[in-house]
Amino acid sequence: MSLAGKRIVVGITGSIAAYKMPHFVRLLVKAGAEVRVVLTSSAAAFVSPLVLSTLSKWPALAGVSDGAAWNNHVELGLWADAMIIAPCSANTLAKLANGICDNLVCAVYLSARCPVFIAPAMDEDMWLHATTRKNVAIVSANGNTVIPVGVGDLASGLVGPGRMAEPEDMVEALTNYFRDSALLTGVEALVTAGPTYERLDPVRFIGNFSTGKMGMAIAEALAQKGADVTLVLGPSHLDINHGKIKVLRVESAEEMYNACMTVYDKVQVAVLSAAVADYKPVITADEKIKKQDDGLYIELTKTKDILATLGKIKQPGQTLVGFALETRQEMEYAQKKLVDKNADMIVLNSLRDEGAGFGVDTNKVTLLTRNGAIKALPLQSKAAVAGCIVDEIIELRNHETTV
Ligand code: CTP
Repeated sequence: MSLAGKRIVVGITGSIAAYKMPHFVRLLVKAGAEVRVVLTSSAAAFVSPLVLSTLSKWPALAGVSDGAAWNNHVELGLWADAMIIAPCSANTLAKLANGICDNLVCAVYLSARCPVFIAPAMDEDMWLHATTRKNVAIVSANGNTVIPVGVGDLASGLVGPGRMAEPEDMVEALTNYFRDSALLTGVEALVTAGPTYERLDPVRFIGNFSTGKMGMAIAEALAQKGADVTLVLGPSHLDINHGKIKVLRVESAEEMYNACMTVYDKVQVAVLSAAVADYKPVITADEKIKKQDDGLYIELTKTKDILATLGKIKQPGQTLVGFALETRQEMEYAQKKLVDKNADMIVLNSLRDEGAGFGVDTNKVTLLTRNGAIKALPLQSKAAVAGCIVDEIIELRNHETTV
């Protein structure tokens, strides 16, 4: 495994698993990484800063009272290609989730612009506590990678989940990250996500239940593999904060169309996951529409089909992916969309599948590609589904360059 030339900050917090960290630092150095160690004062009770300094060939910095160290936290945060906080105690996890900054590890974490890996270590009951579950969800949603805990003997005498991942597994997680993040380096991508709102009057609109979760997960998965992403996002309460994702917020199908058209000729990958309105009102009333005695008829007109338009002007070297949300004859309709819209892949969602669709954190999709392949994926998290979609895009692009 190679981490040649990679700059890694290792943050150690107070947990018995800290005794494994000299071995971890040694493995990183052996793999070619440059390593800087920062510790909390309670971590220093479990592992010797002198040993860590010797192995990393750099002074391991502990308490905030070390003036030079404290001033360096911004520098270290900028220097690193990756930071790993291991072991991450329940206490530190809570601080990371809430932006508390009362020690050097937390200060470097808040200053870091690089990806951060968190390897929790705690007793089973602490790990399963509702607050810890919530904190894990918060740090994950903030874009950090939580390295799964191991199951086994715990220092408390309990047997269960809560053990810090083994040093070898943590090195593998970092190595995989650096390998994967090079796969789409230099690639520009466009992703659409969320619903669109078509205004009827100043207070009402025609919209749908899409939240934008799936598209955001795709934008993150593309960025994780090194792509620079423009995310054209319809009205969504969700937010995304990632150095490689530029968000353009739009409201209507027309605005989404215009935003896509301005970036499309610069991108090599476009994934259109937005639930775009197919129709909009012919007239948007300037004043609120008043209730009438009889029924109300609203004349609708078709919106521009973004996917079909991009399919028409697609150039060699561009990979175009669309979504199909169907309730019946799923395969037939999805195949037709693949051909009619000149897409390279259609991600088929069936509303008949439990756990799939709007608002939920899971999805179950089938991938239909232009070469006739059909891959039915299991029910999994939207992040995992996004990972599979991006892997398939990489495969399509590789295939294109080899034929
Ligand atoms: N789409 C789009 N612009 C539109 C409508 C849809 O780009 N105005 C895209 C969606 O983002 C999705 C794909 O087209 O990737 C499929 O959308 P869908 O509405 O299911 O397909 P339609 O062709 O509109 O067909 P139908 O509504 O009859 O299923």
